[in-house]
Amino acid sequence: MDSSDKNRLSVALVDVAEGKEAEFLALADQFAALLVRRKYGISEMIRDEAHPLRFYSVRRWHDAAAAAACHADLEAQSLTARLYRLARITHIVNGARPADSRRLILDDQRARVEADRRTGFDRRVSDRTRAEGDRRSGPDRRLGPRRLQHRAGEVDLVAAARRAREHADVTFTHFKVGAALETADGLVVTGCNIETTVGLTTCAERVAMFKALSEGHRMFTRIAIVADTDQPSPPCGACRQVLWEFGGNLQVELANLKESTGTHQLKDLLPLPFGPRLL
Ligand code: THU
Repeated sequence: MDSSDKNRLSVALVDVAEGKEAEFLALADQFAALLVRRKYGISEMIRDEAHPLRFYSVRRWHDAAAAAACHADLEAQSLTARLYRLARITHIVNGARPADSRRLILDDQRARVEADRRTGFDRRVSDRTRAEGDRRSGPDRRLGPRRLQHRAGEVDLVAAARRAREHADVTFTHFKVGAALETADGLVVTGCNIETTVGLTTCAERVAMFKALSEGHRMFTRIAIVADTDQPSPPCGACRQVLWEFGGNLQVELANLKESTGTHQLKDLLPLPFGPRLL
């Protein structure tokens, strides 16, 4: 597309669920055709040579208005929802940020996060009655978990945590844990536990949270935690604290390799918490 704005680019890292590749690629083709047909831009799905189920989704928008129109397009939304059911989107690079980065951009899901964040900010200033842990209440801290309206599709967070668990490096305990943290705009950031010879172990949940924070995410809705145990394997105390400080009252979904082992709200797992409001 010669006339497209070269800077208006969205890149997503896409991990397709095993066995779903053909279906995923067919949908991606449909999405690409829609983009061209409606003159929104062009879309390409590039396979990672080292990871056969990993793709880079590159979308070059005709302009900002076309990107916004595409996000509002019901057919595009329905295709996106179906894509989300087959794959997890681990990261989006938005190269479309205008020179003035404080301006609200409207060409990908992060733009909707910005909009949401502002709404929440307005609200938290006037509402001090919320419980500690609802990040919207603190005057100086991040917002709490808030699910955006009109989300493209529900992500299978437990499946993402199960896949992440496979990467656990557990030479000493042989106890593998996977975690998948959902951001308010529906992206998933995963983690696994990593152990070292000198006891510097980091749990899956904290790996996921620190990865997410380091990639710029600040609002979270849910975390799934998976271990190979019949009993629920809940987060350790240190993780509860970290998740609370950065994620607020997250929904915590516990599962093993076969089934769910329970869903909790983080506030119930961490009564009388210490938090930033006490500082
Ligand atoms: N572990 C986690 O990754 N998450 C938890 O919530 C509990 C424990 C890890 C740490 C260590 O590598 C292994 O599981 C056994 O404690």
